[in-house]
Amino acid sequence: MAELVETGVDEFHVALVRLDSPETRNALSAAMKEQLAGELERLDADPEVRCVVVAGSDRVFAAGADIKAMAARDPSEPPDPEAAAFWTRLAAIRTPLVAAVAGYALGGGCELAMACDLIVADEGARFGQPEITLGIIPGAGGTQRLTRAIGKQRAMEYVLTGRRFDAGTALAWGLVNKSVSEGRWLEEALALARSIAERPPLATKLAKQAVLTAHEQDLSEGLRTERSLFDEAMATEDRVEGMTAFLEKRDPEFKGR
Ligand code: CAA
Repeated sequence: MAELVETGVDEFHVALVRLDSPETRNALSAAMKEQLAGELERLDADPEVRCVVVAGSDRVFAAGADIKAMAARDPSEPPDPEAAAFWTRLAAIRTPLVAAVAGYALGGGCELAMACDLIVADEGARFGQPEITLGIIPGAGGTQRLTRAIGKQRAMEYVLTGRRFDAGTALAWGLVNKSVSEGRWLEEALALARSIAERPPLATKLAKQAVLTAHEQDLSEGLRTERSLFDEAMATEDRVEGMTAFLEKRDPEFKGR
C-alpha cells in the first residue's frame, strides 16, 4: 500500500498520524482512507496511546474526497458503501483525536477535522465545503457537524456558496479550539494532546463519548447516558488513584485501569 500516513507515539502517550500525499494535496483516496482508519483503529486499541493528533503538512491538511475517483463514477452507479464506511470507522474511535490543521481543510478535509474531537488551526488555515462547486453536497458531516458547530445561517451560506473561511473566523464561530501563530500549529496541537494524555485514559474516553452524546441525543436521554458513563468511570482503579492522590496532595499515577 502507498505510504500515505506516517505514525509515531511519543513518551507522553501521544500518537501523531500524518497525511503525507503532497502531490494530491492529501486527497482522501481509498488507499489513504483505508490506511488512516486502520492506523487509528490500531492506535485506539493500544493501551500506550492516550490521545492522537491527526495532521497534514503545513500547506494542506486535506483537500477532500478524491475528485478523480469520483469523476470516474457513472451517475447511474449505485452509491459506494466503502466511501461511507471510513466515516463510520472514524466515529467509532474512542481515543480523543486532535486535528492539527494548517493550509487547506476543504470538503472531506474539513469533515475529517470536524470528525476529530478538537481542532488546532494555523492562523493561515482555510476551511470550506466546496462540494457545491462540483455538483454535489457534503456527504460526511459537512452539513451536520458544521451546522451544529457554527449555526444554521453561517453553515447555509458556506455550504451553498462553497466559499472558504479562515482560522480566525473559525475560532470566532467556535469551529476550532485554537488559532495559533504561523508555524506553531503542530507543537500547539501536540501540547493540547499531551495535556489530555496526562489524564486517566479510561475517563477521557468516557468523557469523549459523553460529550458526543450531547450532539446525538436529546437532553434527558443524554443525561441518562452521561450518568451511566460516569458510573463506568467511578468503577475504575484510576478514579481511586485520582481521588486518593488529591487527598494525599500528590500527583496521580494513572494506569489506564
Ligand atoms: N481529489 C483529487 N485530486 C486532488 C484534489 C482532490 N480533492 N485536490 C487536489 N488534487 C490534485 C489536483 O488535481 C492536482 O493534480 P495534478 O497535479 O495531477 O493536476 C494536484 O492535486 C494539485 O492540485 P492544485 O494544482 O489544485 O493545487 P493548489 O495547491 O493550487 O490548490 C487546493 C490546492 C486549494 C486544495 C485545490 O487543489 C483544490 O481546490 N482542491 C479541491 C478541493 C475540493 O473541491 N474538495 C472537495 C472534494 S469533494 C468532497 O470532499 C466530498 C465529501 O464531502 C466526502
